[in-house]
Amino acid sequence: MKINILAIESSCDETSASVISDGKILNNIVATQSVHEKYGGVVPELASRAHQQHLVPVIQEAIKTSGLDKKELSAVAFTRGPGLMGSLLVGVSFAKAFAYSLGIPMIEVNHMEAHILAHFIDHPAPLFPFICLTVSGGHTQLVLVKSHLEMEVIGETLDDAVGEAFDKTAKLMGLPYPGGPMIDKFALNGDPKAYSFPLSDMPDLNYSFSGIKTAVLYFLRDRLKENATFIDDNKNDICASVQYTLIKMLMQKLKKAAKIHRINEIAIAGGVSANLGLRAELEKLSSELGWKVYIPSFEYCTDNAAMIAMAAHFKFLNQEFCGLDISPLAKMKIGK
Ligand code: KG4
Ligand code: ZN
Repeated sequence: MKINILAIESSCDETSASVISDGKILNNIVATQSVHEKYGGVVPELASRAHQQHLVPVIQEAIKTSGLDKKELSAVAFTRGPGLMGSLLVGVSFAKAFAYSLGIPMIEVNHMEAHILAHFIDHPAPLFPFICLTVSGGHTQLVLVKSHLEMEVIGETLDDAVGEAFDKTAKLMGLPYPGGPMIDKFALNGDPKAYSFPLSDMPDLNYSFSGIKTAVLYFLRDRLKENATFIDDNKNDICASVQYTLIKMLMQKLKKAAKIHRINEIAIAGGVSANLGLRAELEKLSSELGWKVYIPSFEYCTDNAAMIAMAAHFKFLNQEFCGLDISPLAKMKIGK
């Protein structure tokens, strides 16, 4: 009998469903919530409401395009956390009702572990142990990945996530949400050394990204006093310079982690791993330092249910199921 799993992702502002059959992803349906654009960031209540609207059609489409009948499903997987409580509740509640009605088990998945396990969707996959730099809107972590189900956080941000630094910079510049991809786009044609911003250096393998946000705020305020069109005139250079600083900070600790743990299998994961500058820098380091670098395809960088399905497949093989009394965890930790 094949292991067929329906997976649901609803942790933030993407409603997504995917079906996996014996470890092979059959589809990855994602409904992006455009309702947040005019607010310049995710509005939690609007996100929950949009999940309520999108979830059933997204799941229907995933089941239909998988070619399977829902009676052929072996389990239902869902994101338990971390994420927005109201958004998580929509996915968890649906998963419970669906599993109960079909009499099949449920599998809870940690969203951040799933970002890392997205590396096993396509081949070649990283070899264990590897280090994964997970960079998203809510997290920045260096994770030592020992097996599909054994992970240890060896460094992380002590304040803001790097995705937040991208998004807040974009907001200060008056760019539309989500800001990360906009900064990436303008940075392509800018000079990364045009302006310099402070590099924070935290103890051990930890990061801090709150300082650069304040530095950008004061920098723009001072320049705008002299020239009211400063941002419009220098958009590409500002984006390139901020992005250069953020990537430099990310790479400093990644290099340190690789050295301490003597590992040269290096992966990146999470929404910010879609960043072209970050991808190029990693490719450069791979030839300089002899790293084997793994970069997920764009489809699996930002939030998606295929990564939840992949993580659920490994948990199914290990017979890790959960009960119908499970509840979401907004602050779920890796490896706990
Ligand atoms: O993993 P993700 O989709 O959601 C969370 O779990 O947070 O990550 C979203 C983050 C946002 O901060 C977004 O601006 C950032 O990923 N992002 C990017 C790019 N694409 C998405 N940041 C920089 N460059 C990009 N190309
Ligand atoms: Zn994510």
